Amino acid sequence: MILEDIKKVGVVGAGTMGYGIAINFALWGYPIIMSDINDKILQQSVKNIKSAMSLFVKEELITDEQADDTISRIATTTDLAKLAINSDFITEAIIEKSTDKRKLFNQLDELCPPHTIIVSNTSSLVLSDFGSDVNRQDKIGITHYFAPPHIVPGVEVVKGPGTSDETFDITYSLLKKIRKIPIRVLKELPGYLLNRIQGAMSREANRLWAEGVATAEDIELGVKSTFGFRMPHEGPMMHYDVAGIWKWPKDVRTAMSARRSNPESEISAEAAQKIQQRMAEGKPWFVDPERFDEAIEKRDTEYARRLKDLYWTKER
Ligand SMILES: NC(=O)c1ccc[n+]([C@@H]2O[C@H](COP(=O)([O-])OP(=O)(O)OC[C@H]3O[C@@H](n4cnc5c(N)ncnc54)[C@H](O)[C@@H]3O)[C@@H](O)[C@H]2O)c1
Repeated sequence: MILEDIKKVGVVGAGTMGYGIAINFALWGYPIIMSDINDKILQQSVKNIKSAMSLFVKEELITDEQADDTISRIATTTDLAKLAINSDFITEAIIEKSTDKRKLFNQLDELCPPHTIIVSNTSSLVLSDFGSDVNRQDKIGITHYFAPPHIVPGVEVVKGPGTSDETFDITYSLLKKIRKIPIRVLKELPGYLLNRIQGAMSREANRLWAEGVATAEDIELGVKSTFGFRMPHEGPMMHYDVAGIWKWPKDVRTAMSARRSNPESEISAEAAQKIQQRMAEGKPWFVDPERFDEAIEKRDTEYARRLKDLYWTKER
């Protein structure tokens, strides 16, 4: 199977996430069939789609014509079989309950043509929790969107224990085709990749609040106005590069990597060693050391513009 074999797409569950996921596919040309348990929910989700498209038009992301085309590509049904036989690629976005997802995956496995790929938008479960009875183990996976899914560009693509490379690659390419930013998660683990990173921050923020280190307001403001401010340009890996940490003296880097791999973070000895070795190399992740000054200039230009947009003209 290749990407071009995917011509029709289904979304099961038309709630907060489902209608936005449907928009992504419909906007870039795929006919969509979306299902839920009753017509009332489907009618509401069509309303949500229309209002999302009005916002996109108002913000000049798309034209009126694109909005109309997107809406016209989305059909709805309460008949799962109808959706199943008409879909080459299905995204499940129903309630976050393992038993319900298991039942649905088994039903879809029975009803869909053999080539259909079925993925879940679960935010915390893993395929082993609910996909283990499915016959097409090679054709199931996870695509984890971030709310609102028609706006936030990044989507995690997570491999399950049986997901084939073909399914993984097609899913990745399909997301690229609909202008999302797919992030490959190569191993199945609870929380996948990004919620683990986000969770680590939230955990620490809650703890610092509970220990009376700062108010909730100051924690929020601090995160948004410091590393949150930088985030569109640099995440934790790029930060190592542009902050020039890789150029620091080796003993300072060693002390830092020891802190980053400290046992409190429940890191394995093997992973801790890998972090320490990588930091000992004194090499950036992405930036060419010969073009470091150029990278900094680009960063500062971007930051200065963001400073102007977000803070400069605001009353303080
Ligand atoms: N809300 C978020 O921010 C978010 C972010 C990422 C992932 N997710 C995940 O996306 C999934 C959906 O979450 P949501 O926030 O859209 O939930 P939601 O409750 O808004 O929507 C779920 C929809 O699924 C429908 N449904 C339930 N069982 C069904 C079935 N058997 N067949 C068809 N439809 C069924 C419900 O009627 C409901 O409309 C969950 O797995 C959740 O963990 C949610």
